[in-house]
Amino acid sequence: MWEKRPIIFLILATLVILIGTTVTVVIPFLSVNTAADKIDSVIPYTALQQEGRDIYIREGCNNCHTQTVRPLVTEVLRYGEYSKSGEFVYDRPFLWGSKRTGPDLARLGGKYPDSWHYKHMDSPRAMVPGSNMPDYAWLKNNSLDPQLIERKMQVLGFPTTPAELSDLKGKSDMDAIVAYLQKLGSDIPWRKTVKTEIVGELVNPYANVDHEELEKFEALYLNNCAACHGRYHEGDIGPQLVGANYSENELFSIIYNGVPAGGMPSFASLGSDKVWQLTNFVKYYVSAEDHP
Ligand code: HEC
Ligand code: HEC
Repeated sequence: MWEKRPIIFLILATLVILIGTTVTVVIPFLSVNTAADKIDSVIPYTALQQEGRDIYIREGCNNCHTQTVRPLVTEVLRYGEYSKSGEFVYDRPFLWGSKRTGPDLARLGGKYPDSWHYKHMDSPRAMVPGSNMPDYAWLKNNSLDPQLIERKMQVLGFPTTPAELSDLKGKSDMDAIVAYLQKLGSDIPWRKTVKTEIVGELVNPYANVDHEELEKFEALYLNNCAACHGRYHEGDIGPQLVGANYSENELFSIIYNGVPAGGMPSFASLGSDKVWQLTNFVKYYVSAEDHP
């Protein structure tokens, strides 16, 4: 019967759509960006970091990398504390993304020392054998334009000081992108607080394995550790392992948890069996004096 009264039909249809919009869009929006989302420790990007962010967008890094850790057990284990909405208030535009050819970068800040990033951006394969990320070595050759960066900061309304701007002189695109990467997800102090609880007694499943067997675990060392501790455990970005005097359990927990404040990432995501293989491999090599 309504179809014979177009005007009333129109009014009713509009009302229904309005109610639908209010319930599904307007009301939820009231709880976005409110005081409850605000995180006091989240601060705007510095001029150098903001420029790094623009380079990140320019180079299309977001085509391969997401920047949001979803609240799922596997993601939290692999990347760290899940992302909070308040952490993105200074992201314009946001770079959450949807494609993970490479790993998520939302919690990258502080995972590695700066020197790791410089080498990795120069040639990803130098740090991660088998990486298919392109080289960005040429970023070193582009110098920054402080005047342009100053204007960008003004447009965004981010605070900056003359000293900060004059520091940009002589810096390159590479410096900016590394500064940006080190800021990612590090405004909230999550890294200091996480430590995977190791439940129960540690039992080394490879305690009675002979040396020939241990050598098979070298590939794991080469893939995960050599970039920082050297091909022959002689040290590079990380300290030399030769001569390190740790018990098996101490080694296990260093590798499992990493050294969050010192720039060594956690290797919990390898699973405890592989961490035990590494523990035994390292233990043998660091204590075997006649070894290379
Ligand atoms: C073609 C896809 C691709 C592009 C484009 C790309 N990456 Fe990657 N990225 C990867 C892959 C795959 C890995 C994992 C292997 C590795 O660490 O090299 C990775 C790893 C990384 C890591 C190490 C992450 C970690 O937690 O270990 C960083 C940092 C990184 N990329 C930054 C960048 C930046 C910055 C750009 C843009 C300048 C970029 N990537 C562009 C594919 C890509
Ligand atoms: C991104 C670089 C990096 C990678 C990759 C890395 N480490 Fe480390 N590692 C470090 C740094 C840096 C330290 C020093 C941390 C500190 O004490 O401040 C360290 C410390 C250590 C220590 C303690 C050494 C000492 O003298 O106190 C051990 C043992 C160790 N790492 C083993 C490993 C093993 C095994 C792997 C591979 C699974 C590995 N690391 C991967 C950077 C790295």
